Amino acid sequence: MKSLHTDSSHVFLFFIKRKESAVKLRLSVLCVPISNTQILSTYDRLGHLDFVALGRRGEMENPAIQACSLNKVFKTKIGLWKIKSKSTTAVEDISFEVERGELFGLLGPNGAGKTTTVKMLTTLLLPTRGTAKILGLDVIEQTAEVRKHIGFAFSGSRGLYNRLTAIQNLNYFAELYALEPKVTKKRIPELLELVGLNGRGDDRVETYSSGMVQRLHLARALLHEPEVLFLDEPTVGIDPVGSRELRQTIKNLISLKKTILLTTHYMAEAEELCNRIAIVNHGKIVVMDTPASLKKRVSGDSVIEAEVQSAKAPILLDTLRGLDGRSMVKLDHSAEPEKLCIRTAEPEKVLELLSPFLNPDYILGMEVRHQTLEDVYITIIQGEKE
Ligand SMILES: Nc1ncnc2c1ncn2[C@@H]1O[C@H](COP(=O)(O)OP(=O)(O)OP(=O)(O)O)[C@@H](O)[C@H]1O
Ligand SMILES: [Mg+2]
Repeated sequence: MKSLHTDSSHVFLFFIKRKESAVKLRLSVLCVPISNTQILSTYDRLGHLDFVALGRRGEMENPAIQACSLNKVFKTKIGLWKIKSKSTTAVEDISFEVERGELFGLLGPNGAGKTTTVKMLTTLLLPTRGTAKILGLDVIEQTAEVRKHIGFAFSGSRGLYNRLTAIQNLNYFAELYALEPKVTKKRIPELLELVGLNGRGDDRVETYSSGMVQRLHLARALLHEPEVLFLDEPTVGIDPVGSRELRQTIKNLISLKKTILLTTHYMAEAEELCNRIAIVNHGKIVVMDTPASLKKRVSGDSVIEAEVQSAKAPILLDTLRGLDGRSMVKLDHSAEPEKLCIRTAEPEKVLELLSPFLNPDYILGMEVRHQTLEDVYITIIQGEKE
């Protein structure tokens, strides 16, 4: 039973099924990936459940991605006359596992170490220390084998030939992957359709918008039908409609049983797509869990944002001292007008305390909402700064 409290990738469902006589009870145990816990509600609807307990299992049996104490230290030279060497620890002791068919997200501020981690997992960078395996294959010892099973797409136009058309690019990479010409001929139109570039295959990449370049990157990554995909900021620079379509494409890939690791700065995207998320800061994983569990972790369950007159902000801050110790009150000076952000489990009390000030001399506007993943992210990253 000791393995019940570790990793959050699988859950055990214990349930007691009542036989008609009500005397005979049968204990059943089911082990399912966390992404499939909706079966719980199905059982519930059928009225079969008398008792349910959830437990978590330790190691995954056969993970698609395993990162074990990955470290990366970059050594660079600085200075013109007096050249010194500088070390940057980009990744420090990062460990995680991604289950087959899971969509796992890496979030974190600029420079946190996300791309460096992805580059080590995709055999593009050698770790300074630590190991990683893809489908059980070692990224250092079995590099060539690993590359057959992975696809990756990094943001930006690097990795594509701008003077060539999309189809010429895809043909070129298909040859590099040693795909049979017959297979290539069939797959390229399918992929252009999948990523929404139908009809643009004969245009040169230099005439593409940044969103179209991103889509072509994804098509290139899928050419050799890899089981594991690494997408570094796949929707960056794509308009809202386009990024919704691309998110749908990513969901379709999951239904095709691909395993995906993606990095993103868009919290709504992470919340919509990812089974689990790791938040990385200063090269380390700060938290790792499902989006729903992450939202429960941060104290308070409501967020109140009030636009305030700057001169009156100190009075309002003073008034809010009446809240319980778990509530968090922050004044955002950079917002115009200044914004009071209150994270609390007692929103009614906030409204009661602020009610004498609900006029434009003090408060210009107020909104009460539930916590989003973005609130959780900001709380965690700001907490790290303090
Ligand atoms: N080739 C390199 N040489 C030296 N330092 C590097 C190199 N690549 C990355 N770094 C440093 O490693 C750290 C992590 O960078 P990385 O690109 O992994 O961050 P990131 O989380 O992907 O950030 P972003 O969200 O901006 O893409 C940064 O401090 C960066 O300056
Ligand atoms: Mg990056």
